[in-house]
Amino acid sequence: MPKPKFANESLTTMTEMVFPNDTNTLGNLMGGNLMRLMDIVGAICAQKHSNRIVVTASVDNVSFKEPIPLGSVVTLQAKVTRAFTSSMEVAVEVWAENIPAQKKIHTNKAFLTFVAVDQSGVPIEVPPVITETDEEKEMYEGALRRRQLRLVLAGRMKPEEATELKAIFGL
Ligand SMILES: CC(C)(COP(=O)(O)OP(=O)(O)OC[C@H]1O[C@@H](n2cnc3c(N)ncnc32)[C@H](O)[C@@H]1OP(=O)(O)O)[C@@H](O)C(=O)NCCC(=O)NCCS
Repeated sequence: MPKPKFANESLTTMTEMVFPNDTNTLGNLMGGNLMRLMDIVGAICAQKHSNRIVVTASVDNVSFKEPIPLGSVVTLQAKVTRAFTSSMEVAVEVWAENIPAQKKIHTNKAFLTFVAVDQSGVPIEVPPVITETDEEKEMYEGALRRRQLRLVLAGRMKPEEATELKAIFGL
């Protein structure tokens, strides 16, 4: 098994500005463009953790709470919450900032799953995650439950095998 790594070692931050080409007809950042940035920052983060080529296996639900207007500065931050065998759950957070107005708001959060693969695209083992802070520990704890939920929804796990979910519902 690869040597465990600290969650913090994968911390990745990306800063972008919203230009006219990135916007919808209302002049706000188009959702698909934000999802692209979330995928890229998440993939870089998963690469840092695994030192491997990674592919996106899934993106959990993304809600768009607030529009991000033209000219905003978008900051994305990604960190691996937990690694399983070949897959890693990455938490991506997004903030939008109007620098002249000195206003910064949290706009999105999503969990993405990346799988480390070899040159032929075959899944390969990744280092386990070592947590340090209370927040990292909480994210790590919840990751198994979220993994089971997404695998059940993807038809890759039978509901009766989802032990963490059954425990929540007292089944
Ligand atoms: C992701 C992929 C490598 C999985 O390959 P596979 O042959 O199904 O391999 P496995 O069944 O051994 O699964 C490998 C890992 O992927 C995880 N996985 C597969 N599908 C998943 C999904 N929908 N959501 C979350 N994790 C998933 C498995 O749980 C497993 O994790 P683990 O090793 O930590 O237990 C393969 O489906 C693939 O290459 N998909 C396309 C990826 C891609 O091109 N993404 C960009 C799309 S444009």
